[in-house]
Amino acid sequence: MAAKNSAAWTQLQQHAKAFGTTHLRDLFAKDAQRFERFSLQHDGILLDFSKQRINAEILAALHALWHAAEVPALAARMRAGELINHTEGRAVMHTALRQSGNAPVNVGGKNLIPDVHRVLQQMEKFCADIHGGAWRGATGEPIRQIVNIGIGGSDLGPKMAARALAAHHNKNIRVDFVSNVDAADLAGVLETCAPANTLFIIASKTFTTQETMQNAASARAWLVAALGEAAVAKHFVAVSTNLKAIAEFGINPENSFEFWDWVGGRFSVWSAIGLALALAIGMENFRQFLAGAETMDQHFFAAPVEHNLPATLALLEVWNTNFLGAQTRALLPYSQSLELLPRFLQQLEMESNGKRIDRDGNPLQYASAPIVWGEAGTNGQHAFYQLIHQGGRLVPCEFITFITPDFDLPEHHAKLLSHCFAQSEALMIGRLDHGVSSAPTGDIPSLAAYKTFLGNQPSTTLLLDRLNPFSLGQLIALYEHKVFTLGALWNVNSFDQFGVELGKQLANRLLPMLEGRTPIEGVDSSTAGLIAASRR
Ligand code: F6P
Repeated sequence: MAAKNSAAWTQLQQHAKAFGTTHLRDLFAKDAQRFERFSLQHDGILLDFSKQRINAEILAALHALWHAAEVPALAARMRAGELINHTEGRAVMHTALRQSGNAPVNVGGKNLIPDVHRVLQQMEKFCADIHGGAWRGATGEPIRQIVNIGIGGSDLGPKMAARALAAHHNKNIRVDFVSNVDAADLAGVLETCAPANTLFIIASKTFTTQETMQNAASARAWLVAALGEAAVAKHFVAVSTNLKAIAEFGINPENSFEFWDWVGGRFSVWSAIGLALALAIGMENFRQFLAGAETMDQHFFAAPVEHNLPATLALLEVWNTNFLGAQTRALLPYSQSLELLPRFLQQLEMESNGKRIDRDGNPLQYASAPIVWGEAGTNGQHAFYQLIHQGGRLVPCEFITFITPDFDLPEHHAKLLSHCFAQSEALMIGRLDHGVSSAPTGDIPSLAAYKTFLGNQPSTTLLLDRLNPFSLGQLIALYEHKVFTLGALWNVNSFDQFGVELGKQLANRLLPMLEGRTPIEGVDSSTAGLIAASRR
């Protein structure tokens, strides 16, 4: 049953009306236990949602909504290998990628675990060979530079995680990521590479994505120009579900790393798509990353909704989106190392749940995924926080930070945390006592109105012990399960992405016109005008 048709949904609508203008400031003033009441702790993660605009009744109704949407039943179907990505006829088994034990996980009668562990061992050997110098470039020199060529899920996961875990990098290897078909991306990286020391990973689930294939072809031409055709075998490896296309591209099948169609691109960092990350941080750390995710899987599948971190995050998003009318959520990591997390979550959340048709083929009668955006604190404070504080829009905020710094320079970390906690406090309390005189200033009768902050801006804070491979694995899996839960609550298929197809198809149609191979015809006047101007 869709959550929308449940009694809990109706109750929440009534709560939203009744709760109306209730101010967080007053809720905190009336209840000294509010933090204890509305926070959860699990395995080194503190989730403080006491600054959300909820009370005990609203939270209970949200829990009822979770039961009404039968989230555990869909989770059980996912784990049983059912084709819950029904529009593409695929199972959704990214949790199998981080299962450390050998318990069988079957899809269509085949146990996935032996293949998962075989590819992890292949990655392990490859990392050891690169790090230890057993794998060398065509001229016999060691590999010092890895360039991952991929886009979307074949880029954002390993790039975000490699950036996040900079403190754990192998100091002898540099890892870069190229995704954009704009030559500025690849050219900029190639300028910093020496062909003899460079290894390219071509990462693409389909091995057909135009941007990746173009960048791969240009990288290959660059290498061949310097070292000759025979060098390709020692400087190119590939990660894909499409082993045939890898061979056609000219990469030795022995140098290919397989993954499977039951792994969605945006859920694939745990597979061989994480090879660049594994090379950056070492396989031992990569296994810690998987272990963190596995513990979050166990928590999500077993914990009752009242203690379940992903479920709580998802339910708060439904409350803010569908009942309070928020259209957006700001993601604010007070961790420079997590600066790419907002970009990663944009794909994970918006490509998964940015949908308007439900699982039964009907248009949704309610909003789905909000727009996710953000920036590492404190940089965001000096850019867009003004709008969050005084722009008059409802912008639920999510703060993420760590008790212990990953880079320890004296005096920095307490300042960082003080900003993080001060921002959520300021957003919540606001400022009516503006501290300025109401006496006229020049032509302005009073500055009081300008200096008033209404507050009541809801926020959640995730406070973790420290950023390391294990906790990053926990965090990413937490968001994956949140996305899954939201898909169940909104009754949408979180695992297809037909919305990205149209632009790709039209670009393929426009390309010959732009290259002057066909006349400019069959397009609207704006598109025709732009193409004509570009050709000139
Ligand atoms: O953006 C659409 C998309 O299909 C993503 O879902 C995917 O992660 C990305 O393109 C890259 O696809 P591939 O890994 O097949 O190159």
